[in-house]
Amino acid sequence: MIRYLKNEDFETIYKLGNEITPNFKKTMNLSEMMEDNYTKVFVYEEEKEVQGFLMYTELPDTIDIIDIIVAEDYRRKNIASCLLDYMFTEMPTSVQLITLEVRESNLPAIKLYEKFGFEIVNTRKKYYGEENAYLMGRRLEK
Ligand SMILES: CC(C)(COP(=O)(O)OP(=O)(O)OC[C@H]1O[C@@H](n2cnc3c(N)ncnc32)[C@H](O)[C@@H]1OP(=O)(O)O)[C@@H](O)C(=O)NCCC(=O)NCCS
Repeated sequence: MIRYLKNEDFETIYKLGNEITPNFKKTMNLSEMMEDNYTKVFVYEEEKEVQGFLMYTELPDTIDIIDIIVAEDYRRKNIASCLLDYMFTEMPTSVQLITLEVRESNLPAIKLYEKFGFEIVNTRKKYYGEENAYLMGRRLEK
């Protein structure tokens, strides 16, 4: 099941986030995100366990994916794909462009995004400390 973030999910989301990005908890204020009108956080839950989440900012014509993380034990089970599918069904029809940054070395994520029609549009040098980021984007046809 995919649903909006609730307060009781915070601990799990911070844990999942911190495993990937050490300062995730410091930089992501989940309670503020729940209240602002631009940030959306969806979780994937199965048998009362949150196994993954997707976080993005949404403006009338643009979405920027902040993070998508699936717990290690549940990867390759289509969860990230379900979360992205859900985003596509939820987004307003006015959205024309979706962007994101991803580490150059993060092949699973790059493959995931390519499967969803994203293309590498630029390289952001040393975006993650010493590592470059790819800026990926997908334009939506109207
Ligand atoms: C990237 C990530 C979210 C994918 O989640 P997932 O639920 O395992 O992905 P899915 O099962 O929906 O896979 C969808 C597609 O992604 C690609 N993919 C996912 N994992 C992959 C891997 N390890 N190697 C290669 N391709 C992979 C494949 O194209 C796959 O389609 P397929 O199964 O038909 O081959 C997950 O690996 C993760 O949480 N990684 C750590 C966090 C992270 O790096 N997030 C991205 C931040 S930009």
